[in-house]
Amino acid sequence: MTLILKVDPVNPEITKIRTAAEILRKGGLVAFPTETVYGLGADALNPNAVRKIFEAKNRPLDNPIIVHICDKSQLFELVEEVPEWVIKAVEILWPGPVTFVLKKRKIVPNEVTAGLPTVAIRMPAHPVALALIREAGRPIAAPSANLSGKPSPTTGEHVIRDMYGRVDVIIDAGETFFGVESTVIDATEDPPIVLRPGPMTVEELEQIVGKRFRIHPVALGRSKISIPKAPGMKYRHYAPEARLILIEGDHEKVMKTILEIYYRYKSLGKKVALLITRETRNKLGISRDVIEIGSRENLYTVAKNLFKSLRMLDEKSYDIGICEGFELRGVGLAIMNRLRKAASEIINS
Ligand code: TXA
Ligand code: MG
Repeated sequence: MTLILKVDPVNPEITKIRTAAEILRKGGLVAFPTETVYGLGADALNPNAVRKIFEAKNRPLDNPIIVHICDKSQLFELVEEVPEWVIKAVEILWPGPVTFVLKKRKIVPNEVTAGLPTVAIRMPAHPVALALIREAGRPIAAPSANLSGKPSPTTGEHVIRDMYGRVDVIIDAGETFFGVESTVIDATEDPPIVLRPGPMTVEELEQIVGKRFRIHPVALGRSKISIPKAPGMKYRHYAPEARLILIEGDHEKVMKTILEIYYRYKSLGKKVALLITRETRNKLGISRDVIEIGSRENLYTVAKNLFKSLRMLDEKSYDIGICEGFELRGVGLAIMNRLRKAASEIINS
């Protein structure tokens, strides 16, 4: 039912890419790797193909999809009124993990944008994604390739687990590079608004673009508003079956709280995992029940392991996961956005 193609991430075998591209052109669904997470792709200009994405993921119909291109010039075919600063920014930032929301042209189907007058566009920095889009000869609409509400997939196995039997092709090229989804910028506003923090940090963006950005309150992962700017913001996301408890605040206090809660639930007979960094693990001196999520010295390691670790809670049938919080700056902002959305409970210590 689903064709699985193992592909080299750096030098993708062109015959395999062409097989997948042909299926895309005929209106099929192809899951493929990007530098952030795996995407679930369909021909962005074919409304029927795009509708199949929503079915395969159980995605709410009012959540619009990012369109992926392989050449910067394709941007002008899909959107109107590209501000000068965006033209300059994509020269520097594409290919890469930044998505710009702009006013759409008629050619972009309403199915892609969930009826919005804007469309989100990005050029991914992954050889497999770029080759696939090029061979398909058209832009590819692709949300993350997980079942709606589940953690995004960062390995081929994650995609196979969620999507086998639901899509035509899964291209497996191993683990993705960043592990969290692209930074989404609303470029129809001035100052521009960060709708979703990602691997390209707000600090870096401001420096490159030479503008201050606003951060949408929902991008911090906390406030809930009824008419969000990015419709995807209002749904529970990234949630494992296990109950995830996020401990925020001063790091010394956080470590103390982690231990208290760990032993409290252990004494109630629960299966509890600690999603903690190498540094925290060393300080706490615990080795059992630890899912190491990276190092505080380089938060990109935490971003990369984040979704894999959330999925591991369920793979190993934990009842509860306890996770440490991070500072709301740099890539920490992207990590906290995902953790706060995934958490059943947030404790401020
Ligand atoms: O890194 C990524 O961005 C990955 C890979 C596959 O490219 N894609 C991804 O897609 O994360 P998805 O569908 O899981 O998230 C897309 C986000 C959603 O929050 C959605 O609401 C927002 O982008 N979005 C899409 N089109 C939009 C629009 N026209 N206006 C505002 N937000 C939009
Ligand atoms: Mg997603």
